[in-house]
Amino acid sequence: MENEKKKNVFSGIQPSGNLTVGNYFGALRNFSRYSPDEYTCLYCVVDQHAITVRQDPAELRRRTYEVLSLYMACGLDPEQNILYVQSHVPAHAQLAWVLDCYTMFGELSRMTQFKDKSQKNADNINAGLFTYPVLMAADILLYQTDLVPIGDDQKQHLELTRDIANRFNTVYGPTFTVPEPVIRRTGARIQSLAEPEKKMSKSDPNENAVVRILDDKDTIIRKFKRAVTDSDTVVRRADDKPGISNLMTIYSCVTGKGDGEIEAEFAGKGYGDFKLAVGEAVAAELAPIQERYKQYLSDKAYLEMIMKQNSEKAAYLARKTLSKVYRKVGFTSV
Ligand code: TRP
Repeated sequence: MENEKKKNVFSGIQPSGNLTVGNYFGALRNFSRYSPDEYTCLYCVVDQHAITVRQDPAELRRRTYEVLSLYMACGLDPEQNILYVQSHVPAHAQLAWVLDCYTMFGELSRMTQFKDKSQKNADNINAGLFTYPVLMAADILLYQTDLVPIGDDQKQHLELTRDIANRFNTVYGPTFTVPEPVIRRTGARIQSLAEPEKKMSKSDPNENAVVRILDDKDTIIRKFKRAVTDSDTVVRRADDKPGISNLMTIYSCVTGKGDGEIEAEFAGKGYGDFKLAVGEAVAAELAPIQERYKQYLSDKAYLEMIMKQNSEKAAYLARKTLSKVYRKVGFTSV
C-alpha cells in the first residue's frame, strides 16, 4: 500500500458571483469526501475562467478570497489539500495554448455552455469564452488527474477533456492520465426555486430563485417558503411536479433521506410544512460553514500565505507535466 501511487483529484470553482446551494451540493460539499490520506487533492479557484465574462476587478479579487475561505470552511484542510488560485500557476495558461492546437473548432462549437453563455452575453462573445473548455482541460490534465468531482452541467466539458487527452496520447504516446468525472446522483442538479425547469444559477437576476451558501437563516427560510410548486398538495416526486421534486432533492441532500421516507414524513401535511422543513434543514447545514467562513475571510494575511504555499505545490506538480508536453511536441529547452 505504502508505495501505491495515490490517485489525484482535481476540481475548480469560478470566483464569479455569489455561490449557491447548487454549487454546494453539486460540487463543494463532495470535495471533502476525498481523504488526503488516500488522494492528492487539488481545488482551484479558477479566476482565469471567470474573465470570459466581464468582471468588476475589485469584485473578482474579493470573490477569489471568498471562494478560498469557503473551501476551508467546508472542511478542506489547506495543509492537506492543495487549495490555490489558477492565475498563480502560469502552467495552466501555457498548457491551454498547446491543447488549443489539439482541439477542433467543431468540438468547441458544440459545447452547450458556450451556446448558453453566448446567448446571455451576446455583446461579448469573445475567444476566451469559446476556448474556455480547453483551459478547463489544461487544469485537469496538468495534474495527471484521475477523478474530477463536478456537477452535471460540466459533463460535456469532461468528455471533451478525455477526447483531447486521448488524441494527444495517440499522437505522442502516453502523456496524460485520462480523467473520470464523478457526478453524484443526488444534488448534481439543483433547480431554480422560481422556475424549477431551469438550473439554479448564481447569476439569476431573480434573487428568490437562488439560495446562496452565505444567506442568513431568515433569508433561506423565506426563499424556500416562496418556492414555486404546483396546485397539488401531496409531497411526491413526479415529472409534472418539478418544484416539489427539486425541494425533495435538496431535502434529501441534507438529511440523506430517500424519496419514500420523505413522502411518508410529509404525508397528510401541506406544502407549507414541507417548505419550512427544507428551509430549516438547509439553514442548519450551512450555519457552521458560515461561521467558519467569516473567521477565515477576516484573516487576509493567513489566506495569502495559504495561496502562496499552495500555488508553489501546484506549480511543482504542473511543471512536470508541462515539460513533458513541451518535449513531446518538439519545443527546445535551454
Ligand atoms: N467550468 C467549471 C464550472 O464552470 C469550473 C472549472 C474550471 C472546473 N476548471 C475546472 C471544474 C476543472 C472541474 C475541473 O463550474
